[in-house]
Amino acid sequence: MSQLEKQRQTIETLRWHANRLEMIDQRILPMEFKYLPFTNALEVAEGIQSMVVRGAPAIGCAAAYGVALEALASQFFPRDAFNQAMELGFDVLEKSRPTAVNLFWALKRMRVSWQNISSAPLSQIAQVLLAEAQAISKEDILINRTMGVWGATLLQDGDRVLTHCNAGALATAGHGTALGVFRSAIEAGKKISVIADETRPFLQGARLTAWEMVQENIPVTLITDNMAGHLMQHGEIDAVVVGTDRVAANGDVANKIGTYMVAVLAKRHGIPFYVACPLSTIDLSIANGQGIPIEERAPDEVLGFRDLRWAAEGVNVRNPAFDVTPAELVTALITEKGIVHHPNQQNILDLFNNQIT
Ligand code: MRU
Repeated sequence: MSQLEKQRQTIETLRWHANRLEMIDQRILPMEFKYLPFTNALEVAEGIQSMVVRGAPAIGCAAAYGVALEALASQFFPRDAFNQAMELGFDVLEKSRPTAVNLFWALKRMRVSWQNISSAPLSQIAQVLLAEAQAISKEDILINRTMGVWGATLLQDGDRVLTHCNAGALATAGHGTALGVFRSAIEAGKKISVIADETRPFLQGARLTAWEMVQENIPVTLITDNMAGHLMQHGEIDAVVVGTDRVAANGDVANKIGTYMVAVLAKRHGIPFYVACPLSTIDLSIANGQGIPIEERAPDEVLGFRDLRWAAEGVNVRNPAFDVTPAELVTALITEKGIVHHPNQQNILDLFNNQIT
């Protein structure tokens, strides 16, 4: 592994340390950098809900650790009580956030792992589940690196690339999906500069994407969300790369609120709109974007930020956290198995059946 690659692995969003899970508290970045400890499923579910950890793949990894922690915490219970604690653990994790399908994907994988050895001694079950959670995180980094290599082929030397929200190391176990594409392109010798939408209301772009890029000296320019059209009109954006929380069977893409707006603008200006998307984010059980559950978060995220309030008292608020970009606006999905140009139901099925070239 090159020095550059090692340096890029330094952001450890989740880590197993002293028999517990630790996660970077993303609510306070970039002002403070701090890990918080988690010891059971309920604590992890609260961490996901309150956005200590966020980003679809990272949520999946955290949920898997949540299951493992619950097993470790309950391994000395009688078997019935253990089973009951585990079911409650799965339940609270399932309810933590609705949109990112990686959460449900990871919980399903953990349940299969449990079922495969359900009559083994409880301490053994707990160790197997911990190993499975660790494997999910490790695989996530490898998947992101593979996606990065594919995605890098789509970018040209000198490209100025817009991204929305944070689909970086902080949103995954490492390297990132959209930001992983930038990192891989730079590792391949391309000079890429990043334009980060600030991403109202939670400011993942301003707080997290900008921070990640600055850490690694990757050129980054921050804009407010309403500036993207102006920059595109003036020829200052060559491509868009975003992550996703769930892709429906027909290629419709759910991602952070505001992504749809960027995709419409990109289409209008003839700019390619790419979505970095691990297979774990594709939900074949949902026919199209209309079926994707969209989380509605608390009004105070829109009324102000942290303790600061700027909106008029008594105003009504809407706060959908995600939107759906129709497949027709997506130039390509970048996956670990390759690039799916103009995604649709057939080529997404082909992807799962190993038929893309
Ligand atoms: O609400 P968040 O911060 O969890 O939303 C995250 C996003 O929308 C990301 O773009 C998406 O999860 C992809 S992360 C690789």
